[in-house]
Amino acid sequence: MSNFALELASSIRSIPDYPKPGIIFRDITTLLGNPRAFRRAVDELVQPYAGLKIDKIAGMEARGFILGGAVAHQLSAGFVPIRKKGKLPHETVRVAYSLEYGVDEMEMHVDAVEPGQKVILVDDLIATGGTAVGAVELLRKIGADVISACFVIDLPDLGGRKKLEDLGVEVRTLVEFSGH
Ligand code: PRP
Ligand code: MG
Repeated sequence: MSNFALELASSIRSIPDYPKPGIIFRDITTLLGNPRAFRRAVDELVQPYAGLKIDKIAGMEARGFILGGAVAHQLSAGFVPIRKKGKLPHETVRVAYSLEYGVDEMEMHVDAVEPGQKVILVDDLIATGGTAVGAVELLRKIGADVISACFVIDLPDLGGRKKLEDLGVEVRTLVEFSGH
């Protein structure tokens, strides 16, 4: 890893046996609370897309909202919330998705993105890829052009990156942790 990736990794708190025995929870609240690390992480997420015409950033509830909002601001793009079911007031599209710790459904407003608009997905972490794959399905249902997905953390042992790449989505990540 680069010096930057090492510095970023050290700003992320690891909590063993949370939420279940055997899982190491990668807690980004310590990164978010560190002004230098937060700014640098957002800058690094944004950098590959500078100069591209991006219409929307889609962020997955909840942690994807924090980073996605910051990335959207930096790229002068709109922000699209992808929410856990039952939270959005207007007509939605809905998809079931599997998580590392269970199953859930998420939704997006049907008119959140116009057909053909260029969208980047943003989340804090990709593990099994269930959340991100569900988000790509939702966006494609309404005709969005998902050009890339970016994450602060990749857990490569859980295979999420490959699932997204198999869907034809470019994946960018800043830090890897092996194991869970
Ligand atoms: C976490 C994380 C990612 C997702 C990654 O979200 O923020 O969104 O899991 O896991 P996956 O690649 O296996 O789908 P979670 O829904 O647990 O919590 P949050 O609401 O705090 O973001
Ligand atoms: Mg999440």
